[in-house]
Amino acid sequence: DWTMAAFRAEAVARIREQVGSAKVICGLSGGVDSSVAAVLIHEAIGAQLTCIFVDTGLMRTGEAEQVVTLFRDHYNIPLVHVDASDLFLGQLEGVSDPEQKRKIIGRLFIEVFDGEAAKIGGAEFLAQGTLYPDVIESVSFTGGPSVTIKSHHNVGGLPDRMKLKLVEPLRELFKDEVRALGRELGLPHSFVGRHPFPGPGLAIRVPGEITREKLDILRQADAVYLDAIRKAGLYDEIWQAFAVLLPVRTVGVMGDGRTYDYACALRAVTSVDGMTADYYPFDHSFLGHVATRIINEVRGINRVTYDITSKPPGTIEWE
Ligand code: XMP
Repeated sequence: DWTMAAFRAEAVARIREQVGSAKVICGLSGGVDSSVAAVLIHEAIGAQLTCIFVDTGLMRTGEAEQVVTLFRDHYNIPLVHVDASDLFLGQLEGVSDPEQKRKIIGRLFIEVFDGEAAKIGGAEFLAQGTLYPDVIESVSFTGGPSVTIKSHHNVGGLPDRMKLKLVEPLRELFKDEVRALGRELGLPHSFVGRHPFPGPGLAIRVPGEITREKLDILRQADAVYLDAIRKAGLYDEIWQAFAVLLPVRTVGVMGDGRTYDYACALRAVTSVDGMTADYYPFDHSFLGHVATRIINEVRGINRVTYDITSKPPGTIEWE
């Protein structure tokens, strides 16, 4: 794609000009945006870049390993991997309010990141995979009076004392353009085509209080759901698909026994930029098949529902 080849060359030149010989640190989330930003910046300045991956304990199955493998082993990009799951899950104990969860996660993330950055030492720049829609939606989401619907912590929020200048090479791009750039940079299709995943991770897919047990159950249900979507060849048609573990137990029957387990909701939407979305019209046979698989394969769930709310009035995530 000649447009992206040109963008790549220009972006590399701009990054070199902005950064000079200074050190840059970049937070990797495992998602497309920060990955593309990191690979692009690495192309521009090589070993001046160090990436930091904070494992919050709120990631999906296998996600942390995938990030480490891709960056450290495949791209040879210096990567610091911090397992901070005990800290995050400990501080989230007993917290059920969605905005409170985001605040705690945002604050801890900055603390951990800041600590690691200090250990690396001497960085002048912070790289972020901020996209154009992040810039708009984080400022305000207006419908009449200006109100913040959800405080996405991936934009802004850096402590002033860090005094780092920002490098945001994707700031003018939309998601589909970032994907095209990722392909241009040779990132594997499985990475470039990934659905967006929110910064607070599974914390906002366990409405109410988060426990390790709930997170484990959710991870398994989510993995089965995504596996079924991939096998049906539908992954690339969907903007985001995920399971939500509902904070409610319901009665079921399995064999000759009564069960009393969690209910789970499945969500899948199509969207262009995440600002509006339509629920994905799966065949009923597909939904039935997934529900059966989840209930058979995941201990702790005995009921599955499908969310048919579009955005607006719903949001994509449940919290
Ligand atoms: P909503 O749920 O507001 O989500 O319709 C729109 C898009 O943003 C993602 N999302 C977040 N991303 N921090 C993030 O980095 C957050 O706190 C957050 N909340 C929602 C969501 O997954 C969807 O892609």
